[in-house]
Amino acid sequence: MSAQLTTPAAIVLAAGQGTRMRSRIPKVLHPLAGRSIVDHVLDALADAGIARPVVVTGHGADAVEAAVAARAATARQVPQRGTADAVRVGLGAVPQDAGTVLVTMGDAPLQPAALFRAILDERAVGDPAIVLVSAVMPDATGYGRVVRGTDGGAAAIIEEADADELTRAVREINVGTYAFDAAWLRAALDRVAPSASGEEYLTDLVALAVADGRPVRIVEAADAADTVGINDRLTLAAAEERMRRRIVDGHMRNGVTIVDPATTRIDASVEIGQDARIEPWTILEGATIIAQDALIGPNAHVRESRIGPRTHVWASVVEGSTVAEDVEIGPFAHLRPGSEVGARCRIGNYAEIKKSRLGAGTQQHHFSYLGDADIGENVNVGAGSVTANFDGTAKHRTVIGDRASIGVDTMMVAPVTIGEGATTGAGSVVTRDVAPGKKVVGVPARPIELKRRSKVPADAGTADAGTADAGTPGAGQAPVPSGADRNS
Ligand code: UD1
Ligand code: CA
Repeated sequence: MSAQLTTPAAIVLAAGQGTRMRSRIPKVLHPLAGRSIVDHVLDALADAGIARPVVVTGHGADAVEAAVAARAATARQVPQRGTADAVRVGLGAVPQDAGTVLVTMGDAPLQPAALFRAILDERAVGDPAIVLVSAVMPDATGYGRVVRGTDGGAAAIIEEADADELTRAVREINVGTYAFDAAWLRAALDRVAPSASGEEYLTDLVALAVADGRPVRIVEAADAADTVGINDRLTLAAAEERMRRRIVDGHMRNGVTIVDPATTRIDASVEIGQDARIEPWTILEGATIIAQDALIGPNAHVRESRIGPRTHVWASVVEGSTVAEDVEIGPFAHLRPGSEVGARCRIGNYAEIKKSRLGAGTQQHHFSYLGDADIGENVNVGAGSVTANFDGTAKHRTVIGDRASIGVDTMMVAPVTIGEGATTGAGSVVTRDVAPGKKVVGVPARPIELKRRSKVPADAGTADAGTADAGTPGAGQAPVPSGADRNS
């Protein structure tokens, strides 16, 4: 029977303690490029066409099971009696009709899908009992060594603790990834005897297959660095660097310009459109989507957000937000979760936005805060303007209509609505709704008749309030002249 006729199953070993991490978090749940270590293993298995692997859990089982539940079956190994025992436990959750079982380590996150495919393909030729992955390491310390037979296949794997000097000198190591003949594996596991350390070694199966007259084939990893297991925080950092470089290279191959790969961090979950340009010192995290022709950075931090075509995010933080096309953000702006910024908006220095919608063409150039606000199109938000959205117990909404002009240093005490085309004077404290087209000034802000404006002496108020650093009229001060309360 050809091994290809039945769907391959997979077992991922993840019950070990990971002592050298010195962590309270289970090793396989440590993050790597924005996903957990074991997630990367499950990603590669999925890419290799394996539907629902079995993850063997033990240490931190509750947390590991919760983390993988959506896309893997789990089996608990208590106590952890070694890798052979772990596979025995995992097999309990593998369908009986599986012809091939792939086994891999949950702590080896850099293994590419192609490596899994390669051993499955090799398993389909000549019915070997085992196909294992080897790698030639510059330093083989700590690994099981592969002893080759005369046929070029494996004769045995010798764990380091059991290796003599000659065997220790071998640099071809056992990666810990195998494709097994499932029926042979089920029976052979009963013949594995505990080692001197008391653990049952999965690697003992190699010599057992040879004794049964079944070939054990070897697929050598093209790049040994892809096969390393995470053992401590140092190997974790090295793997992170390698994974990030792989992600960045992938985007460049897809037509994204990454100006400086060394200072750019992009999570595995990020999507970037063609001809987008990522400037140095930029971090893109989570389920972020960058549209084509966007310009991100330098110094941008974007997480869980969508950035539209041709939009530029410069030295700013954008979290949980949606930004449309042709928007300019920054430098030094902060979009907090729940913000929606319309096309052609300008979000400038020290602008903060939270849970607010800004219509197309709206401008918020200078230091100012918009929270829980619904802002129309082509609104100008003057420097220093603030939505006072919290009254000490609850958050309230501010609504600003299209084309409204919010004078510098306006306080909008929510809940409040400023109508379409309305104007607020510099330093006004708006506590009541403003009707469309009306102008309010003062503290608290009151409507003024627009025709009175011409009677105000030219030197009243602060004549140069048209710039962001204008003085602020005090409480109860006379209205400032027309045009003096806009800033740009
Ligand atoms: C194992 C291999 C070794 C190989 C190396 C590659 C054996 C006996 N040795 O050694 O040949 O070079 O991996 O990294 O298999 N685990 C369980 N249950 C257990 C024990 C381990 O699930 O009872 C899991 C661990 O969580 C880990 C993996 O199996 O993901 C490997 O276990 P570990 O103890 O690290 O094996 P090594 O000594 O590194
Ligand atoms: Ca290990």
